[in-house]
Amino acid sequence: MKWCKESTLEKRLRGRKDNNGSKDDMGLEATLEVWEINTFYALSHVLFKVSLRVQKGELVCLLGRNGAGKTTTLRSIIGLTPPRSGNIRFNGRELVGKRPYQIVRMGMGYVPGDRRIFPDLTVRENLEVGRRLRGTAAEWTLERVYELFPSLKKLDKQLGNHLSGGEQQMLAIARSLIGSPELLLLDEPSEGLAPLLVKVLEDQVLKLREEGISILLAEQNVKSALRVSDRGYIIDKGRIFFQGTAKDLRENEEARRHLIV
Ligand SMILES: Nc1ncnc2c1ncn2[C@@H]1O[C@H](COP(=O)(O)OP(=O)(O)OP(=O)(O)O)[C@@H](O)[C@H]1O
Ligand SMILES: [Mg+2]
Repeated sequence: MKWCKESTLEKRLRGRKDNNGSKDDMGLEATLEVWEINTFYALSHVLFKVSLRVQKGELVCLLGRNGAGKTTTLRSIIGLTPPRSGNIRFNGRELVGKRPYQIVRMGMGYVPGDRRIFPDLTVRENLEVGRRLRGTAAEWTLERVYELFPSLKKLDKQLGNHLSGGEQQMLAIARSLIGSPELLLLDEPSEGLAPLLVKVLEDQVLKLREEGISILLAEQNVKSALRVSDRGYIIDKGRIFFQGTAKDLRENEEARRHLIV
């Protein structure tokens, strides 16, 4: 069994941290290392010593039911709700204390759950706004994004508010690519999508991984997330309870108990 309780996980992470924190047991490079973060909303303590890591090119899911702390974990990483204690390293650089725009410039993309498409702008304009906001010399040109998402190209002149939920989700992901992220944080991309569209979304997420982008995918849709992920973590009441391969998470009874709504 590869899953382990938090204390064991922490011990392993601590071992790695002492060793400069950049490589794991198998010598794989870590893109993101979250180490014992505690996050609050005002007086309310929401994340308790959350630790996780995403290695280069990995697709890792963060599973948990309603209110478990998935969004808060992603918001902590991107700097929208910074943790009060703990560390977050991205390619070895500390993120705690940095502002979201600085973190984005370092190569992290964030697609929030509510997608935040500009309703009065066309698909193309939504993508171009993404580039201006980030101010990067984008590796991901509009043409390259359209190559990856050909159905978006067909909607080039369509206004944001005329798009279906699935199309909006695709646009939100595509927009985050314009900043040429090395790591993408995706918050419940399958939410509100019909089962057929969830499959389409899974293919898109897999395509991103094939492009070499590391992904941390927060999901309540366990089946969908485990179909695409290499590994995953289970969060419940603001604490990480398990981590393991997709197979471990699918088959372990105790892991499943934390996911049943
Ligand atoms: N702005 C906020 N102010 C106070 N408490 C909040 C705020 N946002 C979230 N919380 C609380 O923090 C906890 C974790 O919420 P979070 O949104 O991270 O969960 P989640 O796993 O993303 O849930 P969901 O699947 O519903 O999106 C919940 O108890 C929630 O009520
Ligand atoms: Mg959420």
